Amino acid sequence: MATLVQSIDPGPIGALKIAPSVLAADFGRLAEQVSQVSAGSDWLHVDVMDGHFVPNISLGPPVVSSLRACTDMFLDCHLMITDPGDYLEPFAQAGAQSVTVHAELADLDPVIAEARALGLRVGVAANPDTEFEVFERYLPLVDLVLCMTVFPGFGGQAFMPEVLPKIAAVRAAIDAQNLQCELEVDGGIDLATTAAVVQAGATVLVAGSAVFRAADPLGATEALRKAAAGVAR
Ligand code: DX5
Ligand code: ZN
Repeated sequence: MATLVQSIDPGPIGALKIAPSVLAADFGRLAEQVSQVSAGSDWLHVDVMDGHFVPNISLGPPVVSSLRACTDMFLDCHLMITDPGDYLEPFAQAGAQSVTVHAELADLDPVIAEARALGLRVGVAANPDTEFEVFERYLPLVDLVLCMTVFPGFGGQAFMPEVLPKIAAVRAAIDAQNLQCELEVDGGIDLATTAAVVQAGATVLVAGSAVFRAADPLGATEALRKAAAGVAR
């Protein structure tokens, strides 16, 4: 099958990446807001919510398509939806590079396989109360593990430090098996919480409010990168 997915370099695995979440942007000025942060960002994080898997509705393939038309950034789509398998092709067609699906859903193997067949990168996400054992078996199959540091559904929530041991356990497993896998964190990431997640082993920092609600969004991406750079890993 010819791949639909436009190849955009995701950057070297394990190098620190900043991924602003457009959920916190002003949707009426999306193109302008994205262009403001792109120079300081590695990926753009796109939160897709279906009002079923999470109690909120955000955006879908048409908005991904609009984002694709206004930026050449790597689109990291976080699918907080009950039936991701029904929407992989629309997201690939809209211009996504990566889809991350939730471990709380039953058997992800067919979804992971289909995403790969479409040419998408694929990740597995875990809610704060989902234990490592639930998704450990997917690690060799995915490009990314996303440890949620808030319960998904809304931006602007407080970081949950109790997730840190799980982040460290995922990091240890990735390293022990020498897997080519990013470790992403999402929820309440800001200048106060960056050091702890980087120390625990995170390589991709998703930040919504801390970037798009800042007076200077580009400066906020640079400040996060600087905060992460000061941490021994
Ligand atoms: C939450 C989303 C997050 C959210 C993060 O369900 O997955 O990506 O936008 O927002 P902040 O950074 O404000 O916690
Ligand atoms: Zn997200």
